[in-house]
Amino acid sequence: MELPDLAGKVAVITGASRGLGAGLAKNFLARGMRVALCARNPLPFQDGPDVLSCRVDVSNAAAMQDFGKLAVAKFGRLDLWINNAATLDPVVKVRDLDGAALYKSLDVNLLGVLFGSQFFVKHVESRPGEGVLLNISSGAAYAGYAGWAAYCVGKAAVDRLSETLQLEEAKHGLRCYAVAPGIVDTDMQKQIRATSVEVFPTVAAFHEYKAKNLFNTIPHVAKHFLQMAFVKEGRSDTVSARIPAEKS
Ligand SMILES: NC(=O)c1ccc[n+]([C@@H]2O[C@H](COP(=O)([O-])OP(=O)(O)OC[C@H]3O[C@@H](n4cnc5c(N)ncnc54)[C@H](OP(=O)(O)O)[C@@H]3O)[C@@H](O)[C@H]2O)c1
Repeated sequence: MELPDLAGKVAVITGASRGLGAGLAKNFLARGMRVALCARNPLPFQDGPDVLSCRVDVSNAAAMQDFGKLAVAKFGRLDLWINNAATLDPVVKVRDLDGAALYKSLDVNLLGVLFGSQFFVKHVESRPGEGVLLNISSGAAYAGYAGWAAYCVGKAAVDRLSETLQLEEAKHGLRCYAVAPGIVDTDMQKQIRATSVEVFPTVAAFHEYKAKNLFNTIPHVAKHFLQMAFVKEGRSDTVSARIPAEKS
């Protein structure tokens, strides 16, 4: 499936200081797209005509509003918004899961997605044509993983939030997906591989992904995301969607 010329299209990506978010930004820029990026740490991109980068914690509602406003002030129309920022922590058994630690995780993985989504749906309604919202989900949205309660709960909630948003906002031009990118070799994967088998019994499978290099690459994920956003035949029939494995 060929991608159209995407030069000039504007994408917002949260959590773009490293990993999937930074990889997507680099890929999009190489296609001539323009990007508005945020994370808490410095971003590996130079601000310029095609790049806006901001130090933002996605769990801060006011900061996310300001970030969205800056993106609109710089680029005008936003075509694609990707809520990518997330944390795996805390990795503990449910019996040891501290309520405050669970809230901290949900502040980022759920409320961060909520704040980004709220800004984007209002932006889409304010201008002609559709807008595409990709909320980055995970296989952990579909089933529990021992040790990952907080992450699983947050990602499952992102899927339900996205389905609800789509029902409410389709009439205003929104196309929203909760999309699982598959296994991508980032810092999050390093953190997973460093977990003890006692807390995370599935860890051996992740060592095997690394040993056999079974990861989805950034170009593979980027191509599928852009097909979902900009190619009619590339759209998912369902809001919850999964990028196919590149290798097996
Ligand atoms: N890697 C995988 O195999 C995999 C599989 C399934 C789903 N995913 C999902 O894919 C997305 C990207 O994951 P990744 O593997 O690239 O993770 P990563 O390597 O840990 O990077 C996470 C990114 O999110 C940012 N972030 C974290 N907390 C933030 C906050 N409060 N405010 C703003 N930014 C924040 C981080 O930047 P700062 O620390 O600088 O803020 C970083 O840029 C996540 O939604 C993850 O759940 C990943």
